[in-house]
Amino acid sequence: MSSGIDLGRPTSGDVIDLISDDHRRFEQLLSQMRLGTVDRDAVRKAFAAVLVAHGEAEEEIVYPVLRRAASDVDAHDIEHGREEHAEGNDALLVLLELKATDSQAFADAVEELSNVVAHHIAEEELSILEPSRTEVSTRTRWDLGAKWARRRNALIDEGCGSVENVRRVVAAAQQEGLLQEA
Ligand SMILES: [Fe+2]
Ligand SMILES: [Fe+2]
Repeated sequence: MSSGIDLGRPTSGDVIDLISDDHRRFEQLLSQMRLGTVDRDAVRKAFAAVLVAHGEAEEEIVYPVLRRAASDVDAHDIEHGREEHAEGNDALLVLLELKATDSQAFADAVEELSNVVAHHIAEEELSILEPSRTEVSTRTRWDLGAKWARRRNALIDEGCGSVENVRRVVAAAQQEGLLQEA
């Protein structure tokens, strides 16, 4: 991973807090790419790693448990969350494939990615995380927090945000039918 950008390295806590901390990190990194206040290429790489790791660890570790444990979180919410992760990864791939970071194409790709990610964050917090805060025990939420964090950090260490891996992830989502044809 590149150049001193803080990706966070959570280890323990309530999974809802750890996930929402990452959502704030996404917003901050996207804002930095929009404003160009920092090295856009370095932020793009950092953002890719944390977005892919975050979502994949949610799907593997968190979503299945919340679906079982929280009666307000149903199969539709989970499937919709997975579709939105695929859309986010697809928009991320467009950004990663660009060479120049000072072009109109880069600006357009950051705008699209910002919109897709903002939409998903709002929906996930409202329809999956918020209901779980009252319905899932503190112990389970902390247990999930540690497991989610471990998986997230491991995926970052494995280089999950590389353009090659994001291509692979998007192709797999396409095959699974998670992405609507444009
Ligand atoms: Fe999330
Ligand atoms: Fe998510």
